[in-house]
Amino acid sequence: MRHLIPEFEKMKARYPAGFESSLVLPCLRRIQDDRGFVADSDIDGLVAYLGVPRVQVEEVLSFYTQLRRKPIGRWHVQTCRNVSCSMRGAERLIDHLRKKLGVAPGETTADGRFTLSTVECLGSCGTAPVVMLNDAYHENMSAEKVDALLGGLE
Ligand code: FES
Repeated sequence: MRHLIPEFEKMKARYPAGFESSLVLPCLRRIQDDRGFVADSDIDGLVAYLGVPRVQVEEVLSFYTQLRRKPIGRWHVQTCRNVSCSMRGAERLIDHLRKKLGVAPGETTADGRFTLSTVECLGSCGTAPVVMLNDAYHENMSAEKVDALLGGLE
């Protein structure tokens, strides 16, 4: 995390003094972009750097499902399971993915290629069911579309 401090300093300059806690989320996002997840040592480093209570960092980490505490696969398959997606077959889709990848939500395939996750509303209810593959949305999904999507990956 230390190598990111020059970037954190630039962010810090945009906030008034005394608002260090406002930097927790942007710093965690940058750490995750860099490492792929937020390690315990990152939390320690951020607490020391910002001078905020550890619980403040842990609260942010536990609230935002986008922030990860462990490494994930090269491809992160996130399937929405909230009401609109559920009404349009999200459970069948999740079950299909579970069988196809051989892992349960929250797990990563043995080869490290795929991590399967379920998430709450992705904000695209009108095009349910929705799957996110890394940072890209895939809407009106079906088992066949998932097969085509994953089949085209390296
Ligand atoms: S319920 Fe799935 S995107 Fe909103």
